Amino acid sequence: MMLPAQLAIVVPTFNERQNVPLLVELVGKALPGIAWEIVFVDDDSPDETAAAARALALADPRVRVLQRYGRRGLSSACVEGILATAAPYVAIMDADLQHDETILAAMYERIRRDDVDLVVGSRYVEGGGMGEWSESRQKMSRFATKLALHLTKTPISDPMSGFMMMRRDAFMRSLPHLSTVGFKILLDIAASAPVPLRVAEVPYTFRTRQYGESKLDSLVLWEYVQLLMDKMVGHLIPVRFLSFAMVGGFGVVVHFTVLTLLFKLLGQPFGTAQTAATLVAISSNFFLNNMFTYRDKRLTGWGLVRGWVSFNLVCAFGAAANVGVADWLFSHRSYWALSALAGITVSVVWNYVMSAFFTWQKKR
Ligand code: GDD
Ligand code: MN
Repeated sequence: MMLPAQLAIVVPTFNERQNVPLLVELVGKALPGIAWEIVFVDDDSPDETAAAARALALADPRVRVLQRYGRRGLSSACVEGILATAAPYVAIMDADLQHDETILAAMYERIRRDDVDLVVGSRYVEGGGMGEWSESRQKMSRFATKLALHLTKTPISDPMSGFMMMRRDAFMRSLPHLSTVGFKILLDIAASAPVPLRVAEVPYTFRTRQYGESKLDSLVLWEYVQLLMDKMVGHLIPVRFLSFAMVGGFGVVVHFTVLTLLFKLLGQPFGTAQTAATLVAISSNFFLNNMFTYRDKRLTGWGLVRGWVSFNLVCAFGAAANVGVADWLFSHRSYWALSALAGITVSVVWNYVMSAFFTWQKKR
């Protein structure tokens, strides 16, 4: 009989079809005599990574698959993978063979001494290295690392690492406080721990990817900012709302640009110019929110068209509420600017709540 797993290796995947079988083989070689299992958490990759993992699972019961549908996100994938296993020790590791699986045994030995909560695979401690990273990416990584140190409460030389092993009970204590935005899962877990984590580090050298490509585009920087914001003010204001309000603020700039262009420069009637400016601003808000605020629930194809229509409707009601509230306050002798501000606040909150429900809540 196969022994229940003591160690679960959670591997988030998106388009890693070719890497999955290689990783399982390498992990098996790296952990002789240890009862392990590997849990692939795949976000419905177009290259059918999940099917490839299932094919392996049919031949080896230590391989398991969790396929998510209609959602994206590295951190949330890791969290759900950890919650899908019973193993008392869990590791998180990339699928693309960039993380050196040969240190897994040393990490496991270290964590089992039970005097630490977390063992980080680190590129920065003595003996570790960045591999073949470009100078600019190394610089950016170092800068982000400095920022992160303020949040983790524990010194971790490589808080951006996506390679780690931890005790389940330590993870469970962080769970209720996690942000799960973006891809900095280690930072999130450390910053969310009610009591600072006891951390050990094991060095390794980051390898170069052979198959597939990196999913971390330039917007990951924005996700990182969102994570930082959530950790700083998230208990007061939801980060999504902050992002939504920031996009709204930018929408005002767009509105006035278009208005000035049409009314002042092209001499269009004010009504026409104002209508056009409103339409352009609403559309730009829609696309920016779809890209930044709802990156994890991004609409595409027909969903994008449907979303745009519903967003326009939501905003039309929001504008009516804005004018209604401001007008009522003004007619009851409120100061004009305060009346306007109250109207704007009402419409922003209305637009946020309603669009969260009607525009970005996926029903497929
Ligand atoms: N389920 C899921 N959903 N998996 C994802 C997603 C997603 O939206 N995006 C990426 N992945 C998976 C990839 O398939 C891969 O296995 C792993 O997450 C890391 O993604 P890469 O695209 O290879 O990231 P990277 O190599 O640029 O960055 C890595 O190194 C950074 C520096 O240490 C990651 O480990 C980062 O977390 C880490 O900060
Ligand atoms: Mn990678």
